Amino acid sequence: MLPTLTEPHRPARRGTVYLVGAGPGAPDLLTIRALRLLQTADVVVHDSLVAPEIYGELAARCIDAGKRSGDHGLGQDGINALLVQLAQENLAVVRLKGGDPYVLGRGSEEALALAAAGVPCEVVPGVSSSLAAPLLAGIPLTHRGLADSFCVVSAHPQHEGQLPDIPPFSPRRTLVILMGVHTLSQWLPQLHALGYPETLPLAFVLRASWPQARAWQSTLGRCLVDLEQHALASPAVAIIGEVVSLRDRLPQEQP
Ligand SMILES: C[S@@+](CC[C@H](N)C(=O)[O-])C[C@H]1O[C@@H](n2cnc3c(N)ncnc32)[C@H](O)[C@@H]1O
Repeated sequence: MLPTLTEPHRPARRGTVYLVGAGPGAPDLLTIRALRLLQTADVVVHDSLVAPEIYGELAARCIDAGKRSGDHGLGQDGINALLVQLAQENLAVVRLKGGDPYVLGRGSEEALALAAAGVPCEVVPGVSSSLAAPLLAGIPLTHRGLADSFCVVSAHPQHEGQLPDIPPFSPRRTLVILMGVHTLSQWLPQLHALGYPETLPLAFVLRASWPQARAWQSTLGRCLVDLEQHALASPAVAIIGEVVSLRDRLPQEQP
């Protein structure tokens, strides 16, 4: 049965931290469970990628724990400690993270830190940008005859000097690269070395589901030249594979 839209059906409990996925940006891509928890939380600790429209009018106290490039904010240890402290003050805490909390978002590290401190924690899935950004730009990640699998990769190495963990080219696999907008010139040669053809279509989807959403399409061989005509702002997702060529025939979200 659908929850009634006027009554919280899963109110946030005191002394508990909810790791909640906020989706890619647009408030109406939140889940109903996420909305109910936000409406009943005492405090919301949010990321910089979460749209202000989502937390701007909440009754809860809001804390920005955002890590912008060049500014590490509280740092991961500081965020973990803050979540433990707020729960130990017997508050109902929502930790609101962009997309899905367990997709390249360090949500599982936060859950482990809470478990180690004996703090009750629940995790609420969100719509990951790795799925939403391609879809909203008219790109299916799989399509019969073109791709029957996809791989989501972080271009941001876990350790300095490490290369992104990109699999060798397969004509039937779509590659989705997160956190790769500012480092395109670094991972592009790796794709060539792994057998990805120059003619393979590539698309960048910027700020998917936000009012400023944009997408542009190129090929692996041309994209560095094309990039000069397109200001690439983050956050953005790169999609690489034949499925990109369906874009002109499939619905795209108009910002
Ligand atoms: C730290 S990762 C977090 C991913 C998040 N947990 C998720 O499931 O979407 C941040 C990266 O997600 C991608 N991203 C997040 N929101 C986006 C959006 N609205 N449009 C395009 N890319 C987005 C970008 O690649 C960005 O660098």
